[in-house]
Amino acid sequence: MQSTLKKTISASSQTDLKPSEFDKIRRIVYDFCGINLHEGKQALVRGRLMKRLRALQLGSFSEYLDYIERDERGEEFGRFIDILTTNKTSFFRESSHYDYMVSEIIPKLGNRSVKWWSAGCSSGEEPMTMAMLLKEGYGTGGNPPVKILATDLSSEVVQYAKQGIYTSDKLKEMPDYYLKKYFSKIPESSNSYEVKTPIKNLITYGRLNLLKPWPMKGPFQIIMCRNVMIYFDKETQRKLVERFYHMLEPGGYLFVGHSESVTNKDIGFRTILPAAYQKIGK
Ligand SMILES: C[S@@+](CC[C@H](N)C(=O)[O-])C[C@H]1O[C@@H](n2cnc3c(N)ncnc32)[C@H](O)[C@@H]1O
Repeated sequence: MQSTLKKTISASSQTDLKPSEFDKIRRIVYDFCGINLHEGKQALVRGRLMKRLRALQLGSFSEYLDYIERDERGEEFGRFIDILTTNKTSFFRESSHYDYMVSEIIPKLGNRSVKWWSAGCSSGEEPMTMAMLLKEGYGTGGNPPVKILATDLSSEVVQYAKQGIYTSDKLKEMPDYYLKKYFSKIPESSNSYEVKTPIKNLITYGRLNLLKPWPMKGPFQIIMCRNVMIYFDKETQRKLVERFYHMLEPGGYLFVGHSESVTNKDIGFRTILPAAYQKIGK
């Protein structure tokens, strides 16, 4: 009995997240994807990573850090990053941006072929919303001349988004009209719905770290990078906004999250709405 007690005590003290370990985790995450885990996040980081320590039967965070360093295929590294990032999203989130697309952008598209990009798309609700609005705008008059690229750092969320299957709790706020028109209930499941193929077909998914080189070609008419930069420091945000600027066509739009803002207006953005900007340069 006493020895079991001793073991339990030593196991729990071993799994303290030491300041040096937390610093190392912060550095790895920041260097890899720009996310800035500040001091206040120590308990959260410990709580989230404890699950991985238990799954791998490791007794300390140092062992876990060694494991990640030795993890040549990068599977655990991917899980580590996934666990420490926030994927919260929803359909029609921050809807004033979508209202603007519907009233000002989609009606003027005509047959012009353009590209849109959801950068940091998480589980796909953002690009799916864009695709549904495009389909609505074009009615039965054929396919919208728009290709939507949707990318995220996490391969797990990209896989999920590709499937396009959502449980009813994710669809709580979905207007009935869209649910009926663009989703099919999965017969063998009591509460899951799949996005219909014509919507899925408008979107191409890919895994992309925004801090690394971008393999795709622009220019984009719309870039939505919402609730992603909030986790980056000012300098990383500034550089990213500049890269977005160069990826946009003249007159193109950059939408960011409502708690984010673009400060480099001097490179040629004008504000059109809260958290929405239009490129005025060439
Ligand atoms: C909170 S979600 C936002 C989803 C959606 N844009 C929205 O506003 O609802 C943030 C997403 O950004 C992704 N992310 C974080 N850092 C990234 C990076 N360096 N490159 C690409 N995606 C990143 C995360 O994996 C996560 O899915």
